[in-house]
Amino acid sequence: MPSVADIEAEFAARPWRALSPADLGPAAEVPTMLTPEERLLYHWLGRRVQGEGATVDLGAYAGGSAARLLSGLALSGRQFHVHSYDRFRSSRAFWSRFMPDEPLPETDDADLLPVVRRHLAPWEGHVTLHIGDIAEKRWTGGPIEILSVDAAKGAAIADHIAAEFFPALVPGRSILVQQDYLMAVQPWLPAQMVALRDCFVPLAHVPRVGLVFLSVGAVTSAALASARVGQLTDGKLMQRVRDAAAWHDGMVPRGRFKAMLEQVKANPGVRLGWQMKHAARRK
Ligand SMILES: C[S@@+](CC[C@H](N)C(=O)[O-])C[C@H]1O[C@@H](n2cnc3c(N)ncnc32)[C@H](O)[C@@H]1O
Repeated sequence: MPSVADIEAEFAARPWRALSPADLGPAAEVPTMLTPEERLLYHWLGRRVQGEGATVDLGAYAGGSAARLLSGLALSGRQFHVHSYDRFRSSRAFWSRFMPDEPLPETDDADLLPVVRRHLAPWEGHVTLHIGDIAEKRWTGGPIEILSVDAAKGAAIADHIAAEFFPALVPGRSILVQQDYLMAVQPWLPAQMVALRDCFVPLAHVPRVGLVFLSVGAVTSAALASARVGQLTDGKLMQRVRDAAAWHDGMVPRGRFKAMLEQVKANPGVRLGWQMKHAARRK
């Protein structure tokens, strides 16, 4: 079994960058909000799976992240299954931006399920779609080897995701991708992870905003209690963001955390990303 140092060295070499979109097969055509490098990373993560547990995709939208994980998993030589969670609804604005080739629905809150099922059809039998609010979902599926988080758009849901899914990660094996970790409007993510620094080792920053972690310690209820972010005051939230900046020094440019601190200052008490007003527009 590779050591933590072996895995750190493996990710530091960024082997996913040696892949090309053609390596992803039909997954390369599935619409996604992922950056080009993230698309390769997800496929590579699927390929390197060790068969230690399920793959969980929190925040699937049109199935882009799931498709890239599945295309890699299908080449891993292991048994595999992806659990994708989402409300599977879309605004017209997102639909036209990310799926310009699909007929535009007439109303907002359009059903994404028909397109998601079509996009994931090549891997039928290897995917379960968990439809609805993740805040109401429980995880009872055993160990998780890959956990992709792209739905922690508020502090309360970040707490729920940690409580439900992090305890299923396997120390020394499981990979956690915090997709929007460095978005200035989601400061609770670094605030949460820095409080769990005994349980996770940062492996790679995948520009612009993603961070990949290795699970190195069991996430216990005591650890979860100390990592909760939903009730933090602005002052405590900012202190945790500063602690995270120090933790990630050398991997993440400091300016990312400075932008988060500016957001908190400009939006006192706000704990939902889409309610954050842009700090730059503050007067
Ligand atoms: C940035 S998008 C995901 C992009 C996707 N991973 C891709 O590859 O294109 C975030 C998704 O999270 C979903 N989401 C956010 N909060 C959620 C919640 N509480 N319950 C279910 N889905 C949620 C949204 O519906 C949206 O589709």
